[in-house]
Amino acid sequence: IQEEINKVIIMDDEDKYLLKFKGYNFERSLVDIDFLENLDNFEIRDDDVFIITYPKSGTIWTQQILSLIYYEGHRNRTELVETVDRSPFLEYNLHKIDYEKRPSPRLFASHIPYYLAPKGLKNKKAKVIYVYRNPKDVLTSYFHFSNLLITLEASNNIGDFMERFLDGKVVGSFWVDHIRGWYEHRHDFNILFMMYEEMKKDLRSSVLKISSFLEKELSEEDLDAIVNQAAFKNMKVDPQANYDSILQNEIGMRTNKGQFLRKGTVGDWKHHLTVEQNERFDRVFQRKMKDFPLKFIWEID
Ligand code: A3P
Repeated sequence: IQEEINKVIIMDDEDKYLLKFKGYNFERSLVDIDFLENLDNFEIRDDDVFIITYPKSGTIWTQQILSLIYYEGHRNRTELVETVDRSPFLEYNLHKIDYEKRPSPRLFASHIPYYLAPKGLKNKKAKVIYVYRNPKDVLTSYFHFSNLLITLEASNNIGDFMERFLDGKVVGSFWVDHIRGWYEHRHDFNILFMMYEEMKKDLRSSVLKISSFLEKELSEEDLDAIVNQAAFKNMKVDPQANYDSILQNEIGMRTNKGQFLRKGTVGDWKHHLTVEQNERFDRVFQRKMKDFPLKFIWEID
């Protein structure tokens, strides 16, 4: 019984918003600890597909693309099903979906680090799409999002948020650890890496790359429909794709002005970080990413 009590009581020195489980920060109010404890043995099917991201890196966008690839009804707008019900968040099961009863192929989204992945994913049959984004844009997006949702800790300014971000005291823990973990262990998984900036630059090629990884052939017509409906301006006005009702009615917002799809651009950080903040960010990242094997396009240009 004591063990059960410990699970639910928030100790004085614990964070109101974050729940640390095996060294990784989850969103306290939405996560189910019992589920996490059994995650290792979560049964994986060969045709499962997981979208894995660090928060604010393009999850909802990739959920939309995958759901458009898999569900024809979504493509021709004949089915009105929330994106989150097409590809639910593995560890944040908002609608208490019984995953075992879900028909195949199952799509999931998740922010878990590589070491918490169900061991069945290492059979390398089920597929993982890992989407990453310039961490400065992640930071910017995350700052706004944290101020929007009541389940995340708000900050007075981006500088304060940046300190927590660099310290890994946010849902998802430290960005570098997340991406490093998945990248260095890529050979253990059947994994495709996608970069937000590349998706922005050429959505059509990105959809093709994703569909070919998923072994799904698309007609030109289907491809056009997917590219069109996954474009930022169309997703922003599509309540299903934008999670509108989920944010407003299920999670809760501090203001009714914001939306999940905020700006959807590359380089918005330049409008937010001061020169000093940017230099501090670079110093921390250069130190933490010294021997990082992956080159990023935002460092090249
Ligand atoms: P911004 O806050 O910079 O606008 P996630 O889904 O991982 O939480 O990421 C959210 C970020 O992805 C938001 O970034 C959101 O606008 C952006 N995004 C969502 N759909 C997009 C699309 N179709 N095109 C470009 N960016 C998109």
